[in-house]
Amino acid sequence: MATSTTAAHCGTARGLDGVIALDSSICFIDGRAGKLVYRGYDIRRLAGHVSFEEVAHLLWLGALPTSRERDGLSSCLCSERVLPPLVLSILELMPRDASPMAVLRTCVSALAHADQEADDMSAAANMRKSVRLAARMPVIIAAFARLRTGREPIEPLTDGSTAANFLYMLTGERPAPHAERTLDTALVLHAEHSLNASTFAGRVIGSTLSDLYAAVSGAVGALAGALHGGANVRVMKMLKAIDASGESPASWVRRRLARRERIMGFGHRVYKVIDPRASILRGMMQDLAKEQDTSKWERICEEILEVMRQEKGLAPNVDYYTAPMYYMLGIDADLYTPIFAMSRITGWTAHLMEQWHANRLIRPLARYTGLHDLHVVPISDRRVSVP
Ligand code: COA
Repeated sequence: MATSTTAAHCGTARGLDGVIALDSSICFIDGRAGKLVYRGYDIRRLAGHVSFEEVAHLLWLGALPTSRERDGLSSCLCSERVLPPLVLSILELMPRDASPMAVLRTCVSALAHADQEADDMSAAANMRKSVRLAARMPVIIAAFARLRTGREPIEPLTDGSTAANFLYMLTGERPAPHAERTLDTALVLHAEHSLNASTFAGRVIGSTLSDLYAAVSGAVGALAGALHGGANVRVMKMLKAIDASGESPASWVRRRLARRERIMGFGHRVYKVIDPRASILRGMMQDLAKEQDTSKWERICEEILEVMRQEKGLAPNVDYYTAPMYYMLGIDADLYTPIFAMSRITGWTAHLMEQWHANRLIRPLARYTGLHDLHVVPISDRRVSVP
């Protein structure tokens, strides 16, 4: 029998760990220093100081906007919020127990059918489609959140921030200023993160010269996974399970670790110290807890944190504190990853536009570990290959 061979001329980095796949001027991460920078601005100088819409302008166009530019972009986002009838009909057909990320993926794909510019690959059309998607994704998520509980979707606001409109469309009431501020800052923190799995997936699709909707659908699919954006939903599941169990958070987590299970919301491929977004979100979660006079989630989080530090030397990532924070804002747990997506759409599309500006097909190699030189045996003489 032919033997298994390996190509000796190249090594592999499992999971592309440490591989620099392309040049980008959008985002810088120093994983050892715990530093995250959007187009030259440290995340700590952005979060709580500029709005999500300003960050969208920064990511898309390379500079923070003047107030006139910000107002122009905000008004474009507001006017693009209305969903095409096709997408509303699809939302109505979705099973009520469908995963909101799967619904979002389907609807992003369907939006292409209602966009006459879907196949227009000019820079101007791609910018317009980026704005359209950033305006419509929150509307899709909020509409589905209502439809699945038998309620009519609420018409989007014709003014206001992405955060305010989203909270309004979930509840039918204009949000309190602190709730809008909290969500707005969370959107700023989630907008961009260099060549993470979903952005890479999107750029790979875009590099084939497939259109923006195809690339974003793929990115939404990648974000949904438990090891990526899907972790935040599972963090809340864990916190609730611990709360319901009556067991101490420390012993609950230790039992999972003993079974070699992963604790969601901890660890990161790039950060070797605490994720700077988690540091900011921790403070935001604590402020919210104080305001609501509840310390339950904070206490559980802190106990888990200590066990993870002692047992695994792992720090929390962006998904850890968003879960209890959104929960305290009264948002259903399975909407947390879609909220991540409605922010990250700005980063994804900034990367796609950068990719197309100087495109080259992304096509790496695999090191072949299979067999060579097999001869085809007549079908009547073959042995059962799968017992
Ligand atoms: N809980 C428990 N153990 C963890 C862990 C976690 N959250 N994250 C990493 N580890 C452990 C692994 O089990 C592995 O241990 P081993 O060598 O004894 O098998 C080791 O750390 C390295 O894991 P690996 O998967 O190779 O690291 P990575 O860099 O590829 O992982 C993540 C990065 C994010 C996928 C990983 O930390 C993880 O699964 N975290 C939980 C999911 C999550 O929160 N994702 C959101 C990321 S923003």
